[in-house]
Formats: sequence, structure tokens, C-alpha cells
Amino acid sequence: MARRCIRGVAGKTCVTLPSCFSIPGATVSKPKLYSTHVLFEGPRKKLAEHFDAEFWDGDDRPPRSEVLSRVAGKDALISLLTEKIDGELLDAAGPNLRIVANVAVGFDNIDVPTCTARGVAVTNTPGVLDETTADFAWTLLMAVARRLIEGDRLARSGAWTKWNLDQLCGADVWGKTLGIIGLGRIGRAVARRAAGFRMRIIYNSANRAPAEIENELKAEFLPRDAVFEQADFLSLHVPLNAATRGLVGPAELARMKRSAFLINTTRGPVVQETALIDALERGQIAGAALDVFEREPLIPDGLRRDNVVLAPHLGSASVETRTRMAQIAADNAIAFFEGKRPPTILNPEVLDPKRN
Ligand code: DGY
Repeated sequence: MARRCIRGVAGKTCVTLPSCFSIPGATVSKPKLYSTHVLFEGPRKKLAEHFDAEFWDGDDRPPRSEVLSRVAGKDALISLLTEKIDGELLDAAGPNLRIVANVAVGFDNIDVPTCTARGVAVTNTPGVLDETTADFAWTLLMAVARRLIEGDRLARSGAWTKWNLDQLCGADVWGKTLGIIGLGRIGRAVARRAAGFRMRIIYNSANRAPAEIENELKAEFLPRDAVFEQADFLSLHVPLNAATRGLVGPAELARMKRSAFLINTTRGPVVQETALIDALERGQIAGAALDVFEREPLIPDGLRRDNVVLAPHLGSASVETRTRMAQIAADNAIAFFEGKRPPTILNPEVLDPKRN
């Protein structure tokens, strides 16, 4: 079996993978794949069985120039949400590229119509990260309500000299109203967790949930403005698209209670950051807990406040879930080259043989 050594970056770990396999009387080349991340051992090994695979193994994200040069001539690309998949990248890849498998449920980094026009399949990783992301939305909600980060800072600073009755008092969570914008899979998982806190659940979503879901979650559908007005905790769970970009702006923030908190674990551009900073400065809302930002990894100074909990896009970041996400991306790429429908394809029309 031929083996080759693939270096993601000069001086970094060498990932050694088989590059082709033999069958009696012939050596069959495998399709060529570039992954912009070294992934986890399981999915990496699986990909190496099926592809002549190269993996970026740098600690940081690969520079755009690296991605453009590495993708040239490849048949498959495994990408993260940090890679912009657009016409320029497809040009750099050339005509062999058949599939882009994104290791994320969100695919706002991908120009899907352009991929479709060029016959390139696009896949994402829906389903596996719902519960983990919902856990994290609750982690943020509890942290900002109960001032956990401020408490941690005080506790570890050595400056905590005495207990006091009014020290770092936060807001109760139990019995309050949870507002959810976007009652898809993650929104529902967030709502389900509210039962233990005996909360009222109100929501607005592009599509109203079926009655059995509303009954199960005890979730009330309200007009969007009413959700902003009535929520004590407002959690965002819409995907980023043309309709949701900038959805939370000055008018929506002005509707919120002065005692309310905004939680964002979806995509940064759903919230107009300058409007949020302004609302926080003016005490229009009580605080915010943010896992995502308009121009990641940039976090504006105006958000570095005691009443704002900040996280570096960690929603799905458990070892189990991130490994499963990478495995789904690998399964999609493998299925495509086995002539099967990739399980989570976003543009199945490219599989229609009559199109080609
Ligand atoms: C996604 O999958 O879209 C998350 O933002 C990262 O896991």
C-alpha cells in the first residue's frame, strides 16, 4: 500500500495516510480530498480509507491563500464555518470539485446557489448539535442572570474578603418568561429545558410549530414584537439568512424590558451589534450573553461589560458533538463518491443525472 506524508503546515505534525489502494491487476486512485481541519481521529481515519486526503493541521485556521492553493484539483472539500465557499474558491478548485462538506449546521459561509449552478454538492451537519447547543444557551443564560463570571472573577482575585447580603445579586431565572425567536430543533431543545425552571415559554418563528409540539413544550406562539416585549430572557435560534440578518436592532431592543437579557448562540449578524452596545450603555436591557459576533473573532470593546457574558462561539463545542459533526461531514463525502445520496445534502438537485 502506497503511503504518503501530508504536511498541513511546515514544521507541524505529519499526518501519514494511505494515498491509494490496490485491487488485483490494477491500482485504483482514490478521489482527492482537502480538509481545512485535521478533524478528530475517527473521521480522519475514515476519510483516509476512502480518499487521497490532505488535512490542514495548523493550530489556527488556514489563511485563505492556503485554502485556495490546496483545494486546486481536489474532488472533495471538508470545510469549517470559517471558510468562505464562493465563486473564487470554486474557480481555484477547478472542475473536479464535486462536494463541499461543511462541519457545521449553519452554512451562511457557503454560496449554495453558486455551488449548485456548478454542480457541486453541499452538505451540513443538522441534528447532532441541537442538545449540546441548547445546553450552552442555558449555560450563558444562567451565567448572565446569576452573575457567574463576575463572581468567579471576585472569588479568584483574592479580593473577596467577606460575604455580604447584597453582594453580586443577580436575577431569578425560575418562574420567569423565556422568549424564543426561532422554534426549530435548537429552539425546541432550549424550550424543553425551561420546564424544570417553571417558566412561561413564548415564541415566534417563521413557521408556527405544530400543535403537538406547542402542547409538549407548553410554548405560546405570539407576534414577534410581543415576544420582545414580554420576555425576561430572549434567546435567538434563527439561522442567518437575508431575512434574519440584523433582525435584532434598535426597535426590537427598545421593546425589551429594562430587566431583560438577550442570549445569542446562533450567528452574530442576527443582532445589530452597535444597537446592542447602545442599548446596554443606556440601560435599556439588563444584560446579554453572547456566543457569536458580527465579525468573529472581533469582539467590540463596547461589549466588554460586567453585564455581558462573552464566549468564543462554543455552542456545539463538546468533544462528543464536534466529533459527530466531523463524522457526518466525512460520511457525506464518502457517500457521494460511493454513488449514494449524501445523508444531509442541502442541494440534492445536483444529484439529478438529467441536470448534467
Ligand atoms: C454550527 O454548526 O453552525 C455552529 O455554529 C458551530 O458548531
